Amino acid sequence: MATNIVWHKHDVNKKARSEALNQKPSVIWLTGLSGSGKSTIANLLEKKLYSESKKTYLLDGDNVRHGLCGDLGFDDKDRVENIRRISEVAKLFVDSGTIVITAFISPFKADRAYCRSLLEQGEFIEVFVDTPIEVCEQRDPKGLYKKARSGDIKHFTGIDSAYEVPEAPEVHLTYEDETPEQTAERLFTLLSTKGFV
Ligand code: ADX
Repeated sequence: MATNIVWHKHDVNKKARSEALNQKPSVIWLTGLSGSGKSTIANLLEKKLYSESKKTYLLDGDNVRHGLCGDLGFDDKDRVENIRRISEVAKLFVDSGTIVITAFISPFKADRAYCRSLLEQGEFIEVFVDTPIEVCEQRDPKGLYKKARSGDIKHFTGIDSAYEVPEAPEVHLTYEDETPEQTAERLFTLLSTKGFV
């Protein structure tokens, strides 16, 4: 734990950077089971925002676990630390004026609430990617559900590790039998109708 440190206030701040970029920075936080479509939807949403000249950055579970969180596993303690680090990084990006999209299972309510607590009112937009586990398990793009069912993987979300459903997400993305492009379009419409983007 660091001691004897002070916070420096810089003259070029979030307000200045946001004005220069002509956008309102935020965190669009996608949460849902493995295989729910978070990464795919996040990628398409970012493309859409990018095409509208927004400055964005996508933080993705599998990718972040190669670097920043490469030392962490999937027991409860490591998942909490994973989301804590992501939250701090997301906050820095928001300070830079960026619209951040995140795609983490983020199974615990308290951890999602922690990220919200780091940000200003209106900056944290929780999106529940509500794809039923049966659909995720049928998709099983990485073969992980199969491994979890056979016991080769422990602490797998939805199998032997909890997923705490968001109670009041800003956006509830219900499951429809449609293409990822259609889902991303639906999300974009919901976000813009509600004035989040
Ligand atoms: S989180 O729970 O800490 O938010 P995160 O989104 O970073 O998880 O990583 C989830 C990804 O890691 C999954 O999409 C999956 O590919 C992979 N993974 C590997 N082991 C597990 C596990 N035990 N539970 C869930 N996901 C796992």
